[in-house]
Amino acid sequence: FKVTWDAEEAEKGGYDHFMLKEIYEQPRALRDTLKGRISHTRDKVVLDEIKMTAKEIKNIKRIVITACGTAYHAGLVGKYVIEQMVRIPVEVDIASEFRYRDPLIDKETLVVVVSQSGETADTLAALREARRRGARVVAITNVIASSVAREADDIIYTWAGPEISVASTKAYTTQLVAIYLLALFLAQERKTMAAGNIKEILDELKALYSKVQEVLDNDQPIKEFAEKYCRHEDAFFLGRGLDYAVALEGSLKLKEISYIHAEAYAAGELKHGTLALIVENIPVIALATQQSLFEKMVSNIKEVKARDASVIAVAMQGHTEVEKVADQVIYIPKTHPVLAPIITVIPLQLLAYYMAVNRGCDVDKPRNLAKSVTVE
Ligand code: AGP
Repeated sequence: FKVTWDAEEAEKGGYDHFMLKEIYEQPRALRDTLKGRISHTRDKVVLDEIKMTAKEIKNIKRIVITACGTAYHAGLVGKYVIEQMVRIPVEVDIASEFRYRDPLIDKETLVVVVSQSGETADTLAALREARRRGARVVAITNVIASSVAREADDIIYTWAGPEISVASTKAYTTQLVAIYLLALFLAQERKTMAAGNIKEILDELKALYSKVQEVLDNDQPIKEFAEKYCRHEDAFFLGRGLDYAVALEGSLKLKEISYIHAEAYAAGELKHGTLALIVENIPVIALATQQSLFEKMVSNIKEVKARDASVIAVAMQGHTEVEKVADQVIYIPKTHPVLAPIITVIPLQLLAYYMAVNRGCDVDKPRNLAKSVTVE
């Protein structure tokens, strides 16, 4: 018999779509992005790519993260994480807004530019605007020698490997790893975190890939939820704190490949208007991984259940109280709360994927979209 595999089929490595292959490549991509950046003897981050002197690092007064789309959502996680670890104000700005807003940037501002392709027109223009105003620019990108890489002062590469699918998955989780490494590095240099706390997070960072693998190996409940709710034309993602940043990413994934109109909301905002849109059986994905906000999220789930929504919750193993209020719960393995986004996003990526497949959408090449928006 003659096996005819065209090049694309071979590249998909047996997966039905590049997106699914790239979702399953994340454990490897996380490990590759961490490789060589954690000193095992001294439990500290080693980021030789950052050429700033100790004095330059000390003089940073504020940080601005600028990006588009999924990379912007990674930046939102970065705000919470860097402010907690480094105690410097962090502003996250959509690149197409930043570049036209006459931004308050100067030589004491560190600008972090995040871009998988390193060729996004708005992001590259934002980088140039930041440099023109005297800021130090650190790039987080997945493409070696891309325009963003070439024009930044420092580059932290994500080692996710080529990302083919228009919907960004492994680039997002490896961007988060790069952001955690940068935050820990700055915290080390500015002495804003105890060595024990740094070690605790580094130990959890090293264990992340196996916890991501655990979620990937248990995708059945997500498949079932997707089959049950794929005919809906609206969906809501709710979260607080870091979970709100991840909710935005989850809603973008669902929108761009299944064409379902998904909205992400800070759960505390429901009563300020959005609750009016919650109707019987509407699918609501409620993220409740943050211990400090768990009780608040449980009451938000009760709020939408009182309007007969269908709720699938994502919570950390052990938080079984959420089973009393949600219709279905996807548990993620316990990890340090600040690292939860890397695991929480996995079920959301899979949910978007299975919803799109069930709706017969072109998963890897969604309508109207391009992989890299190199023109305005
Ligand atoms: C994400 O799934 C989208 N494909 C899109 O929002 C993308 O993240 C955005 O265009 C930014 O691309 P970049 O990371 O290559 O700059």
